[in-house]
Amino acid sequence: MEEWTIEINRSATKKEKPNTDQLEFGRVFTDHMFIMDYSVPLGWHDARIIPYQPFSIDPSAMTFHYGQSVFEGLKAYYTPEGNIQLFRPEKNMQRLNRSNDRLCIPPIDEAFVLQAIKQLVYLDKDWIPTAEGTSLYIRPFIISTEPFIGVAPSHQYRLIVILSPVGAYYKEGINPVKIAVENQYVRTVKGGTGEAKTGGNYAASLKAQELCSQKGFTQVLWLDGVEKKYIEEVGSMNVFFKINGKVYTPALNGSILEGVTRNSVIQLLQHWNVPVIEERISMEVLYQAYLDGSLEEAFGTGTAAVISPIGQLSWEDKDLYINDGKTGKISRDLYNTLTRIQYGKEKDPFGWID
Ligand code: COI
Repeated sequence: MEEWTIEINRSATKKEKPNTDQLEFGRVFTDHMFIMDYSVPLGWHDARIIPYQPFSIDPSAMTFHYGQSVFEGLKAYYTPEGNIQLFRPEKNMQRLNRSNDRLCIPPIDEAFVLQAIKQLVYLDKDWIPTAEGTSLYIRPFIISTEPFIGVAPSHQYRLIVILSPVGAYYKEGINPVKIAVENQYVRTVKGGTGEAKTGGNYAASLKAQELCSQKGFTQVLWLDGVEKKYIEEVGSMNVFFKINGKVYTPALNGSILEGVTRNSVIQLLQHWNVPVIEERISMEVLYQAYLDGSLEEAFGTGTAAVISPIGQLSWEDKDLYINDGKTGKISRDLYNTLTRIQYGKEKDPFGWID
C-alpha cells in the first residue's frame, strides 16, 4: 500500500444509541466503518473511514458464490479511568493473515489495519458501552469483490471493519449451558478450513445448531471429522475440561481454530500453576472421567462469550451433569480474571492490553 493515510469522512448525523442494559450480541452498529480495497496492481489502497452505510457490489462478485472471505472478532473496553483498551489485538491481526493465506486472499499490513481499527474505535468511542458485561465488538472482514463466477482466487477484495456495542453472547451469560455431542454432522476436517476464520465453517455448523436447539440444547460439541471420536470445539468456541485437578484442551490439529481466549486461558492457568494439557481427548475417555467422578468442570472459551461453562453434556443416550450443572470455580475464576484484565480493573501481568 503506497498511501498510508486514512481519509476520514464523518457522519453528519448520529444514530440513537441503544439502552445498554438490554444489549443483544451484534444487532446494533455504530456511526462509522473503515473500508480499504485491493486490486491488481495497486494492492491494498484507498483506506477510509466513512459513515456506516450499505454499499453496492456486483451480483457476480466472487464472495457471493464461492465464499472466499475471512473475518475476525475482538473487543474494545472502557476502563474505570475512562481509557479505551483492546485485548491482544495483534493476535487477531496475525490470525487474519493466516486465514487470508488459507483462503488465497492477499495479506494485510497488520500494524496498519490495527491502527485503522484504533482510529475507528476512537471516532465512535461514545458507542463503547460501560454496563457490566458489555463491550464494543470489532468485526473486521474481507470479501472477494471481483465480478467473475469462475472458481479461482479473486483479484479484487474489500476489507471492512464494523463496530457493534454488545452484551452477553449467550443469554445464559456465565451460567452453564446444555450441550449435545454431535454424532452426525462435522464442522470441518484436518486439511480443511477449520483453522481459518472463514464464513464457510460457520455456515457448515448451522444445521447441527438448528437441530440441537430444537431439542433444547444451546450448542453442540463437535467431534473430529474422520472417526467422530475426538473432541474438537464447542459451538463456535474452543473447549476445556478440568479432570482430577488438571485442565485439558484438544491440541491444535489443523482443524481447530486457534482462539485468542484459548491461548489466554492456557497462559492464565499456567500462571496459577494449574497443569494444562493440550492433547487429543476422546469422548470415551471424557465419559470414563465422568463415571469415575474425576470430571470436575467443562467450559467453552471465545471472544464473544469469554467463558461459557457446560452444565450438561448429552452423548448418545447418556447425560453427563458436570459439577451438578453449576458454574465451577476454575470457570468463574477465569471469567473474572480475564474480564477484569480486559476492563482494566486488574493489573495485566502478560502485556495483553493495547
Ligand atoms: C467467538 O467466540 O468470539 C466467536 O467466534 C463467535 C463469533 C463468530 C460470534
